[in-house]
Amino acid sequence: MAHPGVVSHRQAPSHPSAEVFSARFDTAGNVRQIAEPACSHFHYHEPMRHLLVTGAAGFIGANFVRYTLAMYPDSRVVGFDNLGPGSNLDNLAGLDQRRFAFVRGDIADLEAVLRTYQEHSITAVVNFAAESHNDRAIHDPSPFARSNAFGAQQILEASRRFGIERHVHVSTIEVYGEQGEGVPYFDEQSPLLAKTPYSAAKAAGDMLVRAYMHTYPDLEVFITHCANNYGPYQFPEKLIPLSLILMLQGQKARLYGDGLQKRDWLHVTDHCRAIDLVLRRAAPGIRSGRLPIYDISARQEITNREILERLCSALGKRFDDVVEYVTDRPNHDRRYLIEPKRIETELGFVPSVAFEQGIEETVRWYVDNEVWWRKILSRHGDKLVFDWAQPEGGARGAAEAPQGAAS
Ligand SMILES: NC(=O)c1ccc[n+]([C@@H]2O[C@H](COP(=O)([O-])OP(=O)(O)OC[C@H]3O[C@@H](n4cnc5c(N)ncnc54)[C@H](O)[C@@H]3O)[C@@H](O)[C@H]2O)c1
Repeated sequence: MAHPGVVSHRQAPSHPSAEVFSARFDTAGNVRQIAEPACSHFHYHEPMRHLLVTGAAGFIGANFVRYTLAMYPDSRVVGFDNLGPGSNLDNLAGLDQRRFAFVRGDIADLEAVLRTYQEHSITAVVNFAAESHNDRAIHDPSPFARSNAFGAQQILEASRRFGIERHVHVSTIEVYGEQGEGVPYFDEQSPLLAKTPYSAAKAAGDMLVRAYMHTYPDLEVFITHCANNYGPYQFPEKLIPLSLILMLQGQKARLYGDGLQKRDWLHVTDHCRAIDLVLRRAAPGIRSGRLPIYDISARQEITNREILERLCSALGKRFDDVVEYVTDRPNHDRRYLIEPKRIETELGFVPSVAFEQGIEETVRWYVDNEVWWRKILSRHGDKLVFDWAQPEGGARGAAEAPQGAAS
């Protein structure tokens, strides 16, 4: 049965004028309207009936699980996550258990991944699993290297051995490093010049995936680099949910340094749509003439200070009353902006959520879902300054970097 407003990829629209719907969440966090951008001339891949989504208990992975189940009523999704810091099984609450299963496991454990592929007859994989918090990476880079580099290679190796049809490796704009003067934007041709422990580990993962693209040209593996995401279910260690929740609790939100670091922001639903397009429509393999890499953005560049100003205005608070400036994080990238022309022209990607609208909906979601974030707080001793972010043994850098703000 077709979902209302959804164009099944088996019934590809015959002309590119089909309506572009916007995807939105209801207050319980369920996707209630789904979009598929109009396009007719793309490669339509067979439905991904048995999809494995890694990092499913995290922010984007959980959103992608919900997106896929809403978009493709025939599909079955297996979520895979090691339930590390920043994960939250509540992100997956309320899903139809006939179509969704959860497996606790580590992408760096080849045997566990292969077993999961076998037991669930997996045909396609989207790998979101990663250690993702820049601040935590400063205090302890090792888990980042393990999950983001070694783990990325291990799960890809499992896909190669098992014969997975399509494997999407989800990466980040941050692998390109900081955008210097005279660099107007990053795109798929930009060199990987990551310089933080998080982004360097992601870049190492990217390089391993690229090596597989060259070495095993029959593997249908893709890389995506996305701008900063915001939306429902983001763990409150990142800038928007953390600041919101601090303000909602009557505490001060924190801005690192001068607050003028610029980020390129994309609503998580638009990221999900973009990944889905790559998964189902991208031309396979290096034989297409270029590395199958897609950069994703809505070209919405905003400073961290502007983000907090918008949160204040959405909550009816005065900036000076609820925001304090704290010492900048060491090695904090100032700016990144992505040019998403390739995914727009090749796959018909059209971002559907304007920032003004998306941020208002996001504020409303966190206000309406206080139970969700209160449970997280109570699990972490009711503190937003989490223990894992504390300097261990008074490490330099950690001690200088006040905790609780994020990029
Ligand atoms: N959040 C953003 O703005 C953004 C932007 C671009 C790209 N990305 C990428 O998207 C992906 C998801 O990001 P997110 O913001 O949802 O992060 P997140 O921290 O909310 O979720 C990541 C999930 O991966 C899991 N995980 C970590 N290591 C694992 C391992 N070895 N095995 C199994 N599970 C593991 C964690 O437990 C967590 O649930 C990451 O790869 C990140 O680099 C994020």
